[in-house]
Amino acid sequence: MTLTDQRPGEPSPLGKHDAECVPPDRARLSDLWEHVRPMRRSLATALVLALIGAGFALVQPLLVMRAIQGAAGAEAVGGVIALLIALFVGEALIDAAQSFLLQRSGEQVVRRIRHRMIRMTLFLPISRHDRFRNGDLLSRVGTDTTLLRASVSSGIVDALVGVVSLLGAIALMIYLDWSLFALVIVAVLAAGTVVGVVLTGIQRASEQAQDRVGAMTADLDSSLSAIRTVVASNAQDRETRRISARVDEAYEAGVRAARLDALVNPAMTLATNGSFLLVLGVGGVRVAGGDLDLATLVSFLLYLTLLVMPIALIAGAASSIKEGLGALHRIKQLLGERGEDHGAPPDDPAEPLIRRRPDAPVELEFRDVHFRYDDTPVLEGASFTVPARAYAAIVGRSGAGKTTIFSLVEQFYRPDRGIILLNRREIGGVPLPEYRSAIGYVQQEAPILWGNLRDNLRFAAPDAADHEIIDTLRQTHLYDWYASLPDGLDTHVGDRGVTLSGGQRQRIAIARALVAKPSLLLLDEPTAHLDGEAEAAVIATLRRLRARCTLLVIAHRRSTIGSSDLVLDLEAGRVTTRSDEP
Ligand SMILES: Nc1ncnc2c1ncn2[C@@H]1O[C@H](COP(=O)(O)OP(=O)(O)OP(=O)(O)O)[C@@H](O)[C@H]1O
Ligand SMILES: [Mg+2]
Repeated sequence: MTLTDQRPGEPSPLGKHDAECVPPDRARLSDLWEHVRPMRRSLATALVLALIGAGFALVQPLLVMRAIQGAAGAEAVGGVIALLIALFVGEALIDAAQSFLLQRSGEQVVRRIRHRMIRMTLFLPISRHDRFRNGDLLSRVGTDTTLLRASVSSGIVDALVGVVSLLGAIALMIYLDWSLFALVIVAVLAAGTVVGVVLTGIQRASEQAQDRVGAMTADLDSSLSAIRTVVASNAQDRETRRISARVDEAYEAGVRAARLDALVNPAMTLATNGSFLLVLGVGGVRVAGGDLDLATLVSFLLYLTLLVMPIALIAGAASSIKEGLGALHRIKQLLGERGEDHGAPPDDPAEPLIRRRPDAPVELEFRDVHFRYDDTPVLEGASFTVPARAYAAIVGRSGAGKTTIFSLVEQFYRPDRGIILLNRREIGGVPLPEYRSAIGYVQQEAPILWGNLRDNLRFAAPDAADHEIIDTLRQTHLYDWYASLPDGLDTHVGDRGVTLSGGQRQRIAIARALVAKPSLLLLDEPTAHLDGEAEAAVIATLRRLRARCTLLVIAHRRSTIGSSDLVLDLEAGRVTTRSDEP
């Protein structure tokens, strides 16, 4: 299942560097409409209410005039005043309802977009994550969507109300004298051209401002995730300055947008005043020549003044919509990505898949696998087999590509050439969720998620019972520590597990993988942070695990390697297999 309509193989719009600059495919009104369409009923209702409210407001002066005339003529004016009050209250109520509908629609649009963006972010292939900055993704989901909300909730309806009132005034002017109206059109078109150019600038500036805000969030995020290193390096000042530079860039782009925005209204006022003078001059001459009567000219001029309000409304709305489009551009970039293809479940449920039951060890084979990251060749014809129930150690110098082998097994990336087989079946053919549920993966960094111990331990197996979890704590030599915790499994582990020691984090990560009862367990330097005793316990556990799971362990330490059944030596992109440890 792909998450968007983008076709497989189509280049995704966001490359490594272009999160920083603006690719040419600007967001258009049709893109905005795509997101607003589900809310069209609420927006239509708001529009109708706005028009009724405007009508109520227009009638009130007439009624006031009637009441005054009636009172002067000693007539009963109670009815007129009651009607006036009703209109007054009605207008206020309509205004409240319309404003609520608009804001709710804005919130709804933002909610839908955020749902999609969050899903897309989490389903983005790892190779795409390599190219995005986390903070920039956060900023797209957070601030870009907030900016979009304003253009939905006020921009769209203001623009529509403005257009409708404008059309009304135009119709009446054409009805009165179309040749005079032609003059108005000339002036308005001239101003419209100017405003059009200005609006494009506003959208561009808004995109830039949002890009800078994204960069700022990304910079702050990366500083925060290494905050201890930042503090220990006395780098707070330097980091503050570096990140603040992004703030200044966002400010400059914002001011550029404000400067352009400030041009919009004067341009439109100039157009209406200019057309007023034009009509006055030409109309005056025609009245003098006797080919236009004075009353028509006067009412035409009155209607011309009525043009000003809707034009100002449209101009304001257009500039707010353009700002929203700037944000939408960044939203679109993310939503235009292609989520990982998780493959359809097999048509025939009886078809043997990766494993028939949990805990069934599997055989893993790499056959002439080639793989490179952009310009870095890593594997160049790697071939090896790890039989079921084997404990294999992968060794090789730092940067040789050991972790990359795990990434390929997890299908974070696809090999450029060659195939990977699990139980003699090519892994590409199995739906990803099922495939990955057969594999346990303990990352080199052993990341811990925000939350409590229980949530962390059953992350890969949300249905695991407490006794199963505690059992894995025993296996990973964590039980004594766990037993000393007053809150037990409810113990909070802080953001990224900051309240834990490196060794605890590592063993929790191993326990987390074990809870899910994998058939193949990938461990990336699982004992790097452990002391001799804990290491021996973990290794003993790993050896015992062979009965129900195949183990692939990246190791530097002799003790870890020494316990293995075979050693895969990775060098120059190829693997040599030894079954006896020297
Ligand atoms: N996401 C990535 N994008 C681009 N290059 C990468 C990426 N990950 C790793 N590399 C490069 O690929 C090579 C292999 O990296 P890998 O992480 O697999 O090494 P390793 O054998 O696990 O090293 P170590 O023992 O230090 O963990 C390295 O040269 C590294 O710079
Ligand atoms: Mg590594």
